[in-house]
Amino acid sequence: MTTPRQRYRRGPLAAAFGGLAAATLAVTLAVPAAAAGSTLQAAAAESGRYFGTAIAASRLNDGTYTTIANREFNMITAENEMKMDAMQPSRGQFNWSSGDRIVNWARQNGKQVRGHALAWHSQQPGWMQNMSGSQLRTAMLDHVTQVASYYRGKIYAWDVVNEAFADGSSGARRDSNLQRTGNDWIEAAFRAARAADPGAKLCYNDYNTDNWQHAKTQAVYNMVKDFKARGVPIDCVGFQAHFNSGNPVPSNYHTTLQNFADLGVDVQITELDIEGSGSSQAQQYQGVVQACLSVARCTGITVWGVRDTDSWRASGTPLLFDGSGNKKAAYTSVLNQLNQGGTSVPNPGNPTPTPTQPGTTPTPTPTQNPGTGSCTATYSEGQKWNDRFNGTVTIRANTAISGWSSTVTVRQPQRIIATWNGSPTWDSSGNVMTMRPSGSGALAAGQTVSFGFTVQHNGDWTWPTLTCSAS
Ligand code: G3I
Repeated sequence: MTTPRQRYRRGPLAAAFGGLAAATLAVTLAVPAAAAGSTLQAAAAESGRYFGTAIAASRLNDGTYTTIANREFNMITAENEMKMDAMQPSRGQFNWSSGDRIVNWARQNGKQVRGHALAWHSQQPGWMQNMSGSQLRTAMLDHVTQVASYYRGKIYAWDVVNEAFADGSSGARRDSNLQRTGNDWIEAAFRAARAADPGAKLCYNDYNTDNWQHAKTQAVYNMVKDFKARGVPIDCVGFQAHFNSGNPVPSNYHTTLQNFADLGVDVQITELDIEGSGSSQAQQYQGVVQACLSVARCTGITVWGVRDTDSWRASGTPLLFDGSGNKKAAYTSVLNQLNQGGTSVPNPGNPTPTPTQPGTTPTPTPTQNPGTGSCTATYSEGQKWNDRFNGTVTIRANTAISGWSSTVTVRQPQRIIATWNGSPTWDSSGNVMTMRPSGSGALAAGQTVSFGFTVQHNGDWTWPTLTCSAS
């Protein structure tokens, strides 16, 4: 699928590459190059956003599932495996195996992880359900500390507290064993999480908070406002976004997201699914994406599963791929909307990004490595943000080739956090990515193909080094 915007971006470059000698390519390409948005993650990355999915560990052996997940998404949430009952089934005994499976799969494939969820009234282990008072408060804080410490440095954002407000018009906290330990249980959880993993963004996450007019939305807003005023460490608010005909996407969605963002937090759509089919479903998905893109601090969107059949409400066919893994109309509308662009995320990285001084950023040096055999890899700069930059590598076949692979090496402390238009693998250091074509790698002499990636630079703006091998 190629959108008009993509055609505009790709056309001149592709034409330029075709007729030029390899020696002139570095000069030709030393201009800002656009990321090609042919997958959800690539299209979202163009404005500095991520596009994620929930993953179930039990499905990681399903090749169709992992192929789609790897190609389309660059932010991963464990659907159930990092919840309280899964992490600490017996008091003091932690079971990291399923959570680790998902985190390792994500990291091996160059993806980031949203942690879900440290403290929640639901899916508590049996031993915790029977607790109350100070004993429960201590157990909850210990859980937050242990889990956030174990995954320290591996989590982009934690849902520290999930679903703590009541539905309906009361605007009250939800009654739960955790709430009955005292109204300050939420801020206590956030402080414990910050102490355990200072590098993770800390989010409050809830559902039915999409419509700005609703009492629950207002109640969460007032809590976040209060937290910011009192210095409680909160960085983001997650909007689950489970929609259906009884709970449609509100027309004021962008207002809700913007108002929260204006409190000084990031906003993220964390569990998106919309029951329905065809153009009606597609339009609603488009509206959600549009709302996020209109808010600079809406840093990413996660859908709650890959295929309809993977969904917690499969009968409502609420996702972007059908049970066979085919792209639905909703997929196309999301991709097209992402490719329309929107506000750029100003500061999409960790909560305390390295400050950068305009004008003092080192000017990177163009890198071009003659390929071994008969291909050439050439780097060109893409969009830049405070804490990350995009790059494009163009592979040119110097003679007809049947396949290629290209290594992209970044320097510590840089890290590649997203890729598109190829199948990446990583060495054990995480610094060397080997990109191979997603489909056939056959190229005629003079033909070019491009892939892209996002580098979180951590203060080092040096361009990656490249190699190209042809077969
Ligand atoms: O794995 C067991 C299986 O062995 C057993 O035979 C079967 C019998 O019921 O249960 C299976 O576990 C189920 C699990 O999903 C995995 O499929 C649980 O019963 C079931 O309760 C659990 O549901 C999850 C639900 O959270 C629990 O609250 C859904 O998968 C998950 O999508 C859903 O996710 C939540 C978010 O965490 C928070 N926001 C709402 C969202 C949707 O409810």
